[in-house]
Amino acid sequence: MKIIVLNGSPKGEDSITLQYVAYIRKHFPQHDFRIFHVSQRIKKMERDLEAFQEVINEVRSADGILWSFGLWVLCAPAQYMRFIELISERGMEAAFENKYAAVLTTSIHFYDHTAHNYMRAVCEDLKMKFVDSISLDIIDMMKEDRRREITIFAEGFIKSIREQAVTSRLFNPLTFSDFVYQPTEPKTKVDPGTKKVLVLTDANDIPTNLGKMITRFKQSFAGEIDVINLNDIDIRGACLGCMRCGYDYNCTYKDGFADFYNQRVRSADIIVFAGTVKGRYLSSMWKTFYDRAYFWNHTPSLAGKQLGYIIAGPLRQNPNLIQILEASSTARQHANHVDIITDECGNSAEIDALLQSFAQCLVSLAEKGYIRPQNFLGVGGHKVFRDDIWGRLRPLWQADYRYFKKHGLFDFPQKDIKIRVMSPILMLLTWIPAVRRKYYANVKTFPAGRLKKLVEHVD
Ligand SMILES: Cc1cc2nc3c(=O)[nH]c(=O)nc-3n(C[C@H](O)[C@H](O)[C@H](O)COP(=O)(O)O)c2cc1C
Repeated sequence: MKIIVLNGSPKGEDSITLQYVAYIRKHFPQHDFRIFHVSQRIKKMERDLEAFQEVINEVRSADGILWSFGLWVLCAPAQYMRFIELISERGMEAAFENKYAAVLTTSIHFYDHTAHNYMRAVCEDLKMKFVDSISLDIIDMMKEDRRREITIFAEGFIKSIREQAVTSRLFNPLTFSDFVYQPTEPKTKVDPGTKKVLVLTDANDIPTNLGKMITRFKQSFAGEIDVINLNDIDIRGACLGCMRCGYDYNCTYKDGFADFYNQRVRSADIIVFAGTVKGRYLSSMWKTFYDRAYFWNHTPSLAGKQLGYIIAGPLRQNPNLIQILEASSTARQHANHVDIITDECGNSAEIDALLQSFAQCLVSLAEKGYIRPQNFLGVGGHKVFRDDIWGRLRPLWQADYRYFKKHGLFDFPQKDIKIRVMSPILMLLTWIPAVRRKYYANVKTFPAGRLKKLVEHVD
């Protein structure tokens, strides 16, 4: 059986994920696993149609495709997304149609589910037969149980191909609207006061819905606001995953990105990200922005700011992307995720009103310095980062470690002396049946009762 492995790590042979593929290959020597470093060679494939076509031809003659990548910033690396863009830009979808597909990733399990949803949806859009996916921690190879699970996963994939198994679908195909937004000039203007507003976009061509939404949003303000097109910034390439930034936030790239990010993005109080839905994400240029901003590692470089999105295209059909956008503001940045305005209502007057109120809301929340308390996206994400920054990845992420320490983010429950003392005492007491009865009888009323008293006394 011929399995094409599309290696999405820009690190090529040095990819961690690829070592898991090598393990599978070792276990199934009777099958031909052919590896293509599509992310590492993305620039060549953009320039050289033959290099791209070579991969597509191999895909066309394959029995199965294994999408293999390390998770980068809640999804696949920007280079991999570019490869996926090239498939549709060059009309090569047919090569993938009806091929069996599986997905293997490595990560520290921070938003691995969004990356897996993304990849499965891409497979389904390509009309592939999606069999299964597996999300592994970077060190899972060291665990016997995990190695066993990896072989079961691979066995299942191969069996499905051999038996031409039926596969399920989870994502509806996207439908794109041909609605044309016709904005009108605002009657009132929002005064941003001392707040600096920045719109970042990957395309502000006036005739598109996105371009018109940006212009209308800009007109909502009394003064000038900054609009920056990422294509005008000196960005030589997407993140290469060298991790050297882990020591002191210094990016190895010698281009304009770090200065742009530090001086122009970080100096704004309000940042609106504007883009168009492209497949199951925004453009690979947007992903390049997010991946390159990783030079701040897990330190929330936009903490305390008001962030929002203006999106053209079918975002509502893509809850996974909505979650990625929200988590990008909250879980990654400890910023306030204000809202996402799209053109999907298909009504120009309504979009005008939405953009106007969005501008008002962003300024008002910035003036109040409001940061919405985090939900699971942020709370859960924080714990994943906290444990690895304090623990096994501390030598790598030294800059993060210093930031987390300084800002009291190592908030382990073990450090709460009161809980450490009281919990065992309470547990011991509940061994006494009468105390236990009383304790559990009070569990329903006690927390609310305590809060009731607090409400009476606090300002
Ligand atoms: C730029 C960058 C972004 C990353 N983002 C995430 C992430 O969002 N979630 C996660 O769990 N791990 C993340 N990681 C860790 C990688 O997923 C992990 O190291 C993976 O094993 C790399 O695989 P590779 O060597 O095959 O590229 C990131 C690493 C890099 C370099």
